[in-house]
Amino acid sequence: MYLTMRQKIVAGNWKMHKNREETKVLISELKALENTSGSRVIIAPSYVSLAFAVKEINNEAAIDVAAQNMDQHSSGAYTGEVSASMLKSVGVKTVILGHSERRIYFGETDTLLKQKVNSAVEQGMEIIFCIGENLKQRESGTYFHVISSQISNVLFHLEAKDVKNIILAYEPVWAIGTGKTATPGQVQEMHAFIREMISWQYNEMVANSVTILYGGSCKPANAVELFSNKDVDGGLIGGASLNAEDFYAIVNANR
Ligand code: PGA
Repeated sequence: MYLTMRQKIVAGNWKMHKNREETKVLISELKALENTSGSRVIIAPSYVSLAFAVKEINNEAAIDVAAQNMDQHSSGAYTGEVSASMLKSVGVKTVILGHSERRIYFGETDTLLKQKVNSAVEQGMEIIFCIGENLKQRESGTYFHVISSQISNVLFHLEAKDVKNIILAYEPVWAIGTGKTATPGQVQEMHAFIREMISWQYNEMVANSVTILYGGSCKPANAVELFSNKDVDGGLIGGASLNAEDFYAIVNANR
């Protein structure tokens, strides 16, 4: 049996924030807070703090550590890059791939992301795969098409058994770091569409087992409303994950 249940997850993408000392402080603040929601909590610090973060958490808190990116190769002369096996060697089993900032600022294409996904799957890593349309695509009404090609180009060659390692994060680019959140209606509409796509490609059981997160200016004030949608399983949080109280308010909103 390869299917897992849809999980409730709140993941914090720290982006290029927090040095080692600040990582230590934030982790100790997170450890002091109570997760009353039963949601799984994931944090994604920078590469240089990953091993340290795993050690600091030290299995004392139910917090998993993820990387924000990885290279598609297993090893080799790729200066500055980090492979899946290197991440695993420091206790990191989850990786965020396809974040819009990687696509926009670092030119990551569907072709490259497919290679990264394949490498992560081969290594048995869990993937948080991000998809999202930009403002122009939202306003011109092409957003379903954009999301559909981002998903099918990068993931739909996978066998159903490998889809169990994929968490999807719908992050409309126009809502990331802008303070502009998608409405609960827009979010539910897209999440339902994504689940339906997975159902067409695989089957309903696979679709119902996939966790789909929302990301984009998710805050304590809007988290309950966003997470109450039936196809929203939690969030990928940027800015608000840098503050322990705010992040756990969002975690505890995901019931
Ligand atoms: P934000 O970022 O919460 O700061 O909008 C979300 C993300 O980029 O994952």
